[in-house]
Amino acid sequence: MAHGRPFLHFHPFGDRFCVDVRTASGFRRIDVAADRLEDLLVELRQIEGVVEPNTGLFRYGGGRHEPPSDRTQGPRGAGRFEVEVDMAKQIIELVVNGHRYEVAVEPHWTLLETVREELGLTGSKEGCGTGDCGACSMIVDGRLITSCLMLAPEADGRDIVTIEGLARNGDLHPVQQAFIDTGGVQCGFCTPGMIMAAKALLDVNRSPTLDDVREGLAGNLCRCTGYAKIYEAVLAAAQGLHRGGV
Ligand code: FES
Ligand code: FES
Repeated sequence: MAHGRPFLHFHPFGDRFCVDVRTASGFRRIDVAADRLEDLLVELRQIEGVVEPNTGLFRYGGGRHEPPSDRTQGPRGAGRFEVEVDMAKQIIELVVNGHRYEVAVEPHWTLLETVREELGLTGSKEGCGTGDCGACSMIVDGRLITSCLMLAPEADGRDIVTIEGLARNGDLHPVQQAFIDTGGVQCGFCTPGMIMAAKALLDVNRSPTLDDVREGLAGNLCRCTGYAKIYEAVLAAAQGLHRGGV
């Protein structure tokens, strides 16, 4: 499945239909799923005997943290077409910041929401949920990823580093310290993702140029700093690493 694209698996289930909806992020889930279901219903109307031509859509959906009353929209249209979201859980194993976890996840949960809400590691943020802002950045098997676009089952067995995993014995990682020292933090919402992107860059390039830093952080958006202080922080961190940091 392409990351970030909603995925819909449809099959008959008794006298109803069971639909497994997987989308990129929690807050978009209801709308995206409902749109896909509307499309599906249009197709079903073409198949004789499946639904009545004027059958409407009764919507269920949404994230697991929403109360049931918020998860239902409808009925819409003249009739009623009942849809259920398959919430079967599976056990996955995650190694996060060196700690091994077994987590029961639903197939559509993202890595971001699983780490934040199941493991309680809330340093990684959800800014957009669509892979655009980088606030959710983590390092998975050595690669920088946007965890809002990775499904939790895709992370099964993988080694994950989050912002919480950078400090050692109470000492901030040089990148974290540099962000503080240079004033690269204002509201701080983008900062965990920025720092993870900077770490991923410095892991492979200990002597980045300003252009290297710009490119390395190109997937991370900041609405406060204007970026200059952030780039300055990463360059300062690189110098710190040369002086014998982590
Ligand atoms: S929350 Fe993942 S890229 Fe914005
Ligand atoms: S410091 Fe506020 S978004 Fe970057």
